[in-house]
Amino acid sequence: MRVTHETGAAVVAPAGLEGVVVAETEIGDVRGAEGFFHYRGYPALELAAARSLEDVWCLLVDGELPGRAESAEFAERSAALRDLPPALARLLPEVARRGPTLDVLRSAVSLLGAELGWRPTHDLAAAELREQSLELCALVPTVLASAFRTRQGLGPVEVRHDLGLAGNYLWMLRGAEAPAEEVRAVEQYLILTLDHGLNASTFTARVAGSTGADLAACVCAALGALSGPLHGGAPSRALAMLDRIGTPERTEAVVREAVLNGERIMGFGHRVYKGDDPRSLFLRDVARGLGGDLVGFAERVERSVVEVLRELKPGRGLHANVEFYAGVVMERCGIARELFTPTFACSRAIGWTAHVAEQVAHNRLIRPSARYTGPPAPLPVPAA
Ligand code: COA
Repeated sequence: MRVTHETGAAVVAPAGLEGVVVAETEIGDVRGAEGFFHYRGYPALELAAARSLEDVWCLLVDGELPGRAESAEFAERSAALRDLPPALARLLPEVARRGPTLDVLRSAVSLLGAELGWRPTHDLAAAELREQSLELCALVPTVLASAFRTRQGLGPVEVRHDLGLAGNYLWMLRGAEAPAEEVRAVEQYLILTLDHGLNASTFTARVAGSTGADLAACVCAALGALSGPLHGGAPSRALAMLDRIGTPERTEAVVREAVLNGERIMGFGHRVYKGDDPRSLFLRDVARGLGGDLVGFAERVERSVVEVLRELKPGRGLHANVEFYAGVVMERCGIARELFTPTFACSRAIGWTAHVAEQVAHNRLIRPSARYTGPPAPLPVPAA
């Protein structure tokens, strides 16, 4: 039921809007109790196992999984959009030296919108918005790799158009082709994180979209929400916790002390999943496939953390979330920790832009209310 000024009725939402449905979407859904999520009806884990990132990107943008010819066409088109516009290429090194890569990305997206003269989504036809969204998402890995290399004092690496998004990203970061299994591991991570219900950043993107703001503004807003440690900022902190633990025997003591001190264990817990996070299970297998010491250590830590949390926070259903093994996979694939959250943004930008397009196509301004709890009004205004 739509609540109107005429009825004067108001719905009081629970803290954190938990369980409140505020939009309709055809892009995907998370069924937390079943440990299941999908994109446009297709199980996301099966997509990650069987399809390329570009195919699933196409599914999100155009609504259907591409056939063989469309798949090649989409991959070619998105690869062709990878080169930085000249003005951005000129400005990026200066911006890159100023702060962490995620902040640089936010600034670069803002510059991109200004440079390309992107108009408010309110004034755009769907086809124009689709083109902008492809361009923006194709450029994110280029911006990140270029900015990261500048920050490291490394020379630039030319974009490759013959590789997929993940392959080109790793190529640009390293200046060398990554082994196929690492490219596929990163690609699968990206597929699994394209979209996930109305998480905080996707909601933020839709709120900005509902005002008719331009696409760059919507993505900047979403990047701000993603940056927080309770959302996309968790994976590097999860790895920092593994460092702090040091050896598996210390896990219980370290985690117990942290939880008793009121700390949150990064990479654990989820608003929607109170059992296993399916992305975490998938990425654990990916990490096992890659091998190395870190994954064995991470698995022992995971078991121990879950046990301690079960004891100290009973009934909260706290398990490893996507960020825990995402960090392990990225570390194993040589992605620097500073790039963990920005790499998450490479995939989630695809989900954000799909949601903005959907919001714009069926728009009503998102404008909730707040209950005033300050001093009773009207107060007499004291003379100056
Ligand atoms: N470590 C320790 N305790 C945790 C916890 C964690 N990672 N996650 C939740 N809890 C506890 C809270 O302290 C709270 O305990 P209380 O009932 O004694 O107050 C209870 O579980 C519920 O927490 P709440 O913040 O209401 O849950 P939420 O659904 O709002 O939070 C997260 C979901 C993801 C924000 C939360 O689990 C968290 O902060 N996780 C760590 C950050 C992280 O990994 N983020 C990435 C998410 S993909």
